[in-house]
Amino acid sequence: MRFPLRSSVSRGYTTPVEAGSTGAKLDRTPAEKGRSPPRRFYAGPSLERARTIDDLRAMAHRRLPAFAVEYLEGGAEEEATLARNLAAFASYRFLPRALVDVSSRDQSISLFDRAMPLPFAIAPTGLNGLFRNKADVLLARAAAEAGIPFIQSTMSNDRMEDVAAVPNLRHWWQLYVFGERSIRDTLVARAERAHCEALVLTIDAQFYGDREWEQRRFAHPGRLSLGSILEAALHPLWAATTLSGGMPSFANALDFLPKDRRGFFESAFWIRANMDHALDWDEAARLRDLWPRMFLIKGLLNPDDVQRAVSIGADGVILSNHGGRQLDWTVAALDVLQEARRRVGARLTLIVDGGVRRGTDVLKALALGADAALVGRATLYGLAAAGQNGVTRAIDIFREEIDRDLGLLGARSVKDLGPDFLTR
Ligand SMILES: Cc1cc2nc3c(=O)[nH]c(=O)nc-3n(C[C@H](O)[C@H](O)[C@H](O)COP(=O)(O)O)c2cc1C
Repeated sequence: MRFPLRSSVSRGYTTPVEAGSTGAKLDRTPAEKGRSPPRRFYAGPSLERARTIDDLRAMAHRRLPAFAVEYLEGGAEEEATLARNLAAFASYRFLPRALVDVSSRDQSISLFDRAMPLPFAIAPTGLNGLFRNKADVLLARAAAEAGIPFIQSTMSNDRMEDVAAVPNLRHWWQLYVFGERSIRDTLVARAERAHCEALVLTIDAQFYGDREWEQRRFAHPGRLSLGSILEAALHPLWAATTLSGGMPSFANALDFLPKDRRGFFESAFWIRANMDHALDWDEAARLRDLWPRMFLIKGLLNPDDVQRAVSIGADGVILSNHGGRQLDWTVAALDVLQEARRRVGARLTLIVDGGVRRGTDVLKALALGADAALVGRATLYGLAAAGQNGVTRAIDIFREEIDRDLGLLGARSVKDLGPDFLTR
């Protein structure tokens, strides 16, 4: 398959899929010299052979049509924010401790007074039905089995109640604020009835970031180009596992939409066009007061705003630039984490996301003061590659890497981590 992506999305080297049929590398890893054979990520059908998140990514790219790959991967405008997310992690190096007894290692944490075996959760992502039928139920099942929270997006293609029915799930509901006030209040009331543990108010998408590369796949807003449709037709496996129940719909938002705007792309465009541009701290405080359980704000980057979240009674903040998909040229969450922690101390749960692809990324975030990390694309790669088993494989890869890297770092527990394990 030919699907060249810009090198900014990769970690200095590209998957064979990204590099196109020439297999040409845009960059080389240090172990490759001169005419040494080119390296390839695994992109075949066997999940056991996926050693890293990058392998799952290559598998996903092979299976998905190009327009879905662009939706999954793309960042806004110049993709500078997207690139910064990876570069921020890369800018930290470890200072490992030597001769520590690491015969047992513990990566469990406590989040909102509940123990969880892994220090990360699954981020909210909308339109997952483009990657797999019943995608959010599959993500939720894998999360529940692993004992980690799953945050379901307002733009989910599965009903909130269907996800809530997944046994043992820590179900968090992500709220987008669009249309009349009654819409958001209805969704909040539904989330309460569905026993969601937390409400996550996303505030960084009131305007839709321009993911230009994705837009180039469309002839008009809401209509794929003929080339994209023909290319999608070359992916029968994707069609069989994704469109078997017909085109996905926005199961939780549909009732609020005009009857003639309920098609898949049309409804996405309607919601985008009706995002509430007046959303402010007063409204965030009102929603906080409306919601009886844990309340988090997702999408803050400025430490002043993080402090303000404390004053409206938020329980947590997700430092995030939306995976590089909204405002371009922002800092990465990791860049502001230490300052945010310095300002709020232990008064607020701080979670970070953006660019988490490795166990070492999670360890760096924890060492810099995060209570936990979120993974967005990483578990979507697994989902697109192989459904629920692929998500589980992604989670297992993180678990294995974190465990091994704790040992190599000379830390018995993630609770022992601190900035003294890192240098820039
Ligand atoms: C395909 C895709 C869809 C997303 N949809 C949403 C969404 O509906 N709501 C939201 O709050 N964040 C959304 N995000 C942002 C993620 O929650 C998260 O902040 C981001 O993916 C983290 O970066 P990462 O993908 O590098 O891990 C989306 C991200 C992606 C990649």
